[in-house]
Amino acid sequence: MRRKLAAGNWKMNGTTAALSELEALARAYPTPSIDVLICPPATLLHRAAEVVRDTEVTVGGQNCHAATAGAHTGDISADMLVDAGASAVILGHSERREDHGEQNEDVRAKARAAMDAGLKAIICVGESLEQREAANTLDIIGGQMSGSIPDQSTGENLIVAYEPIWAIGTGKVPTLNEIGEVHDFIRNRLERRFGEGVGRSVRLLYGGSVKPSNAEDIFGVSNVDGALVGGASLKAQDFSGIIDALLKA
Ligand code: PGA
Repeated sequence: MRRKLAAGNWKMNGTTAALSELEALARAYPTPSIDVLICPPATLLHRAAEVVRDTEVTVGGQNCHAATAGAHTGDISADMLVDAGASAVILGHSERREDHGEQNEDVRAKARAAMDAGLKAIICVGESLEQREAANTLDIIGGQMSGSIPDQSTGENLIVAYEPIWAIGTGKVPTLNEIGEVHDFIRNRLERRFGEGVGRSVRLLYGGSVKPSNAEDIFGVSNVDGALVGGASLKAQDFSGIIDALLKA
């Protein structure tokens, strides 16, 4: 049985005042039967970890460096995320692939570092609109998976998030069939590469314009084990709607 996961990605949003949203969330779900994770900006991570200490909610990072330490101005290592209280890290988000030119091999090296540090790596894959229209979606996802996912992956340290680039922050969502097709494909690829046991235990998240209003339908799709949520994770009230839908799924 895969434990469901509601993960929030605050991106470059949130200063001290935003911690009250996290506090409200942790208070609203004292003993959830699913995992609830918030990935705030790095400046808030340690304080966020303090806020959710002794609660069931956990916090994570949005990126890490592949090296453990050294001369890398502005970067953060996986060990530093752990030290700040993180249990997971989002890697290979399309915004990082686009804004920072991250390639699959960069994502793989970061994921290795994250797993070595004891973090769960949430590895993002997803096609552009152009790629979808050219019917290249599964090829693109397959390539990103083989390039970005390290060999040491297990059901415990790997989570894969399918995030079609054109659905992120746009209000556009693939059809349920389209989501199901990609998630089944990802599951299949994981089983082929890592064997059925591991392949079946990795959690698969859908991300891209998930809201309280569409969450229930999305969580009904096979091989969707939760969501990676951007905009709708910033407010406890919105994110609660998504958590509630996942609790019912
Ligand atoms: P969104 O972002 O929910 O705001 O579309 C999702 C993501 O980028 O993880």
